[in-house]
Amino acid sequence: MLIETEACVRRRSGKTADLFDFSYIYINIETMISSFQFSALPEIIFGRGKRSELTAAAASRGNRVLLLTGSSSIHNSGHGDEIISSLGQAGLQVSQEVISHEPSPSMIDEIAARYRGAEIQVVVAVGGGSVMDAGKAVSAMIPVEGSTKDYLEGVGDREHPGVKIPFIAMPTTSGTGSEMTKNAVISEVGEQGYKKSLRHNNFIPELAIIDPEMMLSCPARLTATSGMDAFTQLLESYISKQANPITDALALQGLKHIKKYLLRAFLEGENNLEARSGMALAAMFSGITLAHAGLGLVHGFASPLGGLFDIPHGVVCGSLMAQVFAFTIDNLIDQPDHPAIRKLIIVSKVFSDFKYKQEKEYLNAFKEKLIHMTSLLEIPRLSEYGFREEYIPKVIEQTSHKFHPVTLTNEQMTEALRSRI
Ligand SMILES: [Fe+2]
Repeated sequence: MLIETEACVRRRSGKTADLFDFSYIYINIETMISSFQFSALPEIIFGRGKRSELTAAAASRGNRVLLLTGSSSIHNSGHGDEIISSLGQAGLQVSQEVISHEPSPSMIDEIAARYRGAEIQVVVAVGGGSVMDAGKAVSAMIPVEGSTKDYLEGVGDREHPGVKIPFIAMPTTSGTGSEMTKNAVISEVGEQGYKKSLRHNNFIPELAIIDPEMMLSCPARLTATSGMDAFTQLLESYISKQANPITDALALQGLKHIKKYLLRAFLEGENNLEARSGMALAAMFSGITLAHAGLGLVHGFASPLGGLFDIPHGVVCGSLMAQVFAFTIDNLIDQPDHPAIRKLIIVSKVFSDFKYKQEKEYLNAFKEKLIHMTSLLEIPRLSEYGFREEYIPKVIEQTSHKFHPVTLTNEQMTEALRSRI
């Protein structure tokens, strides 16, 4: 719709003389395309009912299976017994572990120690982002010595050799996109806490089975917060300093799905398979784009906040997104040719419910839209998890802008955090 609109404007204004000028169609086509790399992706099986392919996929990799699940999602989905009995009926020896919260080094160490020597041939994770990350980390830690902490970026000093047990990911939420990435996020919560990655190119799952029916029973609050995580990941990677033409295409497509389906999935998630499918696709794209283009300031805040407080990652993203992007737009508004503001205008038009004359009007409406979505989705405040004014300086000190296209001042960062107390 956006493309048609701009094309029409050009036709009306007579700017169609150059038959080879397609600049109104493509993003950044007017500039030389920079060099970029794109890594391997997991094999992807996407679609309604595709959970039925899990057993054959696991069996093709071996008959000793370690199955990691959440404490409730696999059973709430109504498909838990079916999945577990199908693995058993195929003659697979299944050991099961339950992941009840975001993985810590000690949790991964304990599980890995239990199965070292057990000749596990495939690790399967069925659950939310925490279960995906735990599965990825366990598959990487069973074959090596030492603690998970030793191999964590910015924490340990050992380099992981990349050996691992084949890993199959089947998400039950639409959020982190961890089923697409090469890192497992591990948290230690407390005064000296951190949220860091166990990362290696080999940690990309061998297979991701994404079945939107597995997400129908995801509770509304988790649908909202994990959906805002995917939204943040798409937007941050879209305007990232490291974005490339492939991530641009995927991120924009993912953002269109967020616009169309996030609220619907929140409001009618139990019955609306179309909305669940749209959000599953958006989350999957967000995992691919974050892995290749990197993230921005909201995720920069998520590291110290997730280390200091037991706050779900999606709550941090959903809570801070509106204010961080309002300041990002403010700081870029006087640079109309900046690639990030050009992209923010495109996104603003995607999310707009009205037609405006000026680009600035679209940007202002997008700022309002983010505030409105945060409210409609009932995203909790950070203070509900113990965050207080006195922690602001410490959080800012430990926050990285990552690949954010513009720097926010200390005052703006303070205001963003303060607005969610
Ligand atoms: Fe995230």
